[in-house]
Amino acid sequence: MPDDGPRMMNLSALRGDNEFNSLRPQRFTEFAGQKQVVDNLSVMIEAARLRSEPIEHILFSGPPGLGKTTLAHLIANEMQASLVASSGPLMDKPGDLVAILSSLSAGQVFFLDEIHRLPRNVEETLYSAMEDFKVDIVTGSGPGARTITLPLERFTLVGATTRSGMLSAPLRDRFGGQFHLEFYTPEELSVIIRRATASMELQIDEPARVFLAAHSRGTPRIALRLLRRVRDFVQVSGEATITELAARDALERIGIGRLGLDRMDREILRAIIQRFGGGPVGLETLSAVFHEEKDVLAEVHEPYMLKLGLLARTPRGRVATRRAYEYLGLEVPRDMPEAPLFEDDNLA
Ligand SMILES: Nc1ncnc2c1ncn2[C@@H]1O[C@H](COP(=O)(O)OP(=O)(O)O)[C@@H](O)[C@H]1O
Ligand SMILES: [Mg+2]
Repeated sequence: MPDDGPRMMNLSALRGDNEFNSLRPQRFTEFAGQKQVVDNLSVMIEAARLRSEPIEHILFSGPPGLGKTTLAHLIANEMQASLVASSGPLMDKPGDLVAILSSLSAGQVFFLDEIHRLPRNVEETLYSAMEDFKVDIVTGSGPGARTITLPLERFTLVGATTRSGMLSAPLRDRFGGQFHLEFYTPEELSVIIRRATASMELQIDEPARVFLAAHSRGTPRIALRLLRRVRDFVQVSGEATITELAARDALERIGIGRLGLDRMDREILRAIIQRFGGGPVGLETLSAVFHEEKDVLAEVHEPYMLKLGLLARTPRGRVATRRAYEYLGLEVPRDMPEAPLFEDDNLA
């Protein structure tokens, strides 16, 4: 059996999903959940349309797979504008950014993914572009160097970040709309799964949908990925409909356990408890222990465990909560606080 265990995941593979692109919602009405975000965006778009103006700059934050990229495309669709996409880490120097900005036409949407990873000097170039629709460029060098101000068309920047806490205040303040995406409810995920199965011409019964939705970590991308794996198993075994039994069997085979945690999640919890006495453990240490990028731990594995109250973040590192011991079936230490150490930060 092929093992697509978590160790082989990498951030770029988790962020961009080539599969299911045809399932990307094309209209807001096809976008399930995030009601408050969608309502506010619709008002912004409608108002901009009435004024025949481009929509203000918009920032989306939240864990991977919740629909940031999809929403950026939806905004462009609704504004009947085209979209140009790039990503923070691809911008080595201000010139890279200026090249894109100066090519934008009025009303065009510039989608900048992973905006928290923009180099400092590039970020500073972005400030005047966002605020005054101009950039200063330096030509020549030494005594002959001159600064030229280049005017830009009124574009709309849509930024996306998995780490809103890493964004500087000057950058954040230049976004007229700032939206934090929350994990989806099982009901919302169930709707997404139903629509996906319909357009894939797959049969799935309701208990199977509910089961998959409950194991998707509140994340549409994961729901769609699990669905695809289950479809593989069902097709190979020649069944016509995805049943709960088939879904259970498939998830077990790919190592997805209770609450949708995968092997890596469970290993992280187990390591914090068994190797570090329950914590606190720094992200650096966990990264070294698991040979995994800190970003992957902090952006992919931790957010949902924090939401479930299995993990808590403290200034000195991650700690396992009482719930984590119970989840893994380990004996809860005597001095453990009764209530889980909930922390309701937004995973910055
Ligand atoms: N609300 C939603 N309704 C339907 N499908 C969604 C929704 N949000 C995300 N998806 C699907 O989930 C996948 C991941 O979404 P994406 O926008 O790439 O997430 P992000 O950019 O936040 O990592 C895509 O296949 C997308 O079509
Ligand atoms: Mg994305």
